[in-house]
Amino acid sequence: MKRNILLNPGPATTTDTVKQALVVPDICPREEEFGELTQSVLKKLAEVVNGQSTHSTVIFAGSGTAGVEAALSSIVPESGKILILDNGAYGKRAETIVRAYKISHRTIRIEWGNFPEISQIETVIKEEPKLTHFFFVHHETTTGMLNPLTEMLELCKKYELDSIVDAMSSYAGLPIDLQKQPIDYLISSSNKCIQGMAGISFVIANKEKLKLTSNLQVRNLYLNLWGNHIHIEQTGQFQFTPPVQIVYSLNQSLDEFFKETQSVRTARYIKSYETLLEGIEQTGLDMLLPKSQHSKLLTAIVEPKSTKYNFKEMHDHFYENNVTIYPGKGAKKDTFRIANIGAIDYNDMKVFNELMLEYFHEIKS
Ligand SMILES: Cc1ncc(COP(=O)(O)O)c(C=O)c1O
Repeated sequence: MKRNILLNPGPATTTDTVKQALVVPDICPREEEFGELTQSVLKKLAEVVNGQSTHSTVIFAGSGTAGVEAALSSIVPESGKILILDNGAYGKRAETIVRAYKISHRTIRIEWGNFPEISQIETVIKEEPKLTHFFFVHHETTTGMLNPLTEMLELCKKYELDSIVDAMSSYAGLPIDLQKQPIDYLISSSNKCIQGMAGISFVIANKEKLKLTSNLQVRNLYLNLWGNHIHIEQTGQFQFTPPVQIVYSLNQSLDEFFKETQSVRTARYIKSYETLLEGIEQTGLDMLLPKSQHSKLLTAIVEPKSTKYNFKEMHDHFYENNVTIYPGKGAKKDTFRIANIGAIDYNDMKVFNELMLEYFHEIKS
């Protein structure tokens, strides 16, 4: 099969074996056999972040936003209030969701590309004694910034806030241990660092906290967290029609994750990132963030001022060579973004570097 190098931040490049796992005999998802597969996938998804003893996975057919919307709309009680950190498009999207559901909230707005200072967040928490929950993004894919997860979880503990963490583009890419980093609700999807196909999102929820949501007035049906959880607990099946083939493929990608191990996967990603930095340095481009804030999963590169530079033309130059790059998304400076997640390695990044040097050499001459 033709191999494309996807340097967009997901859906990421997959292995041939993950692609092949999509092709299975037709099966009714109400069969016991499929129920067993589903149960096993839920368990493995929690195991990736060492949450199997304390957390339950609730799974949805839908892109990552479905998981974020499910969590936000199902967890905060009518009497509650949620703090949202907006330092990128995905924090902003969370705010759009809580607005749509008319959930009481307070937003901390930080220019996209600036680091969220813990003291600044703590000041806001102190001003808002009614807060019950805190939503933030772990890896803000808008800028490639790794938000300070441990420190923000400490704030949650100190002020007794339940944490809802969008770990869409960090889950399985960077190590997360729920026994040491006790996130109450962690959200991710099938098509980023877990290296599966797009179509599934999931919330890995603290069992005790999740149970408490069973008494809340429901705001929705398809995306209701408790409703989906209790159905799958009692019947072993998805509540609604699952994307059958994507579940098989996700199971394969989970097995490949455990075979590779978290530490080897992270090291592979970091080697690709370091190779990318060499290319950026050689080309003489600037990065949006200081290195200390990099997730090492995605890098936002500042677009050059040259009038000859054109993102579309650069994209096409890469695309003709089977490499896909990604535009910026409203950060404080105009950028294009290069992710190094998925079934790729530093050799693929060398290919990218050569093409990048070629493009910038051409527009200089
Ligand atoms: C951090 C983060 N949150 C949420 C999303 C939304 O996921 P989706 O586009 O799959 O709905 C993304 C997608 O890139 C993301 O990176």
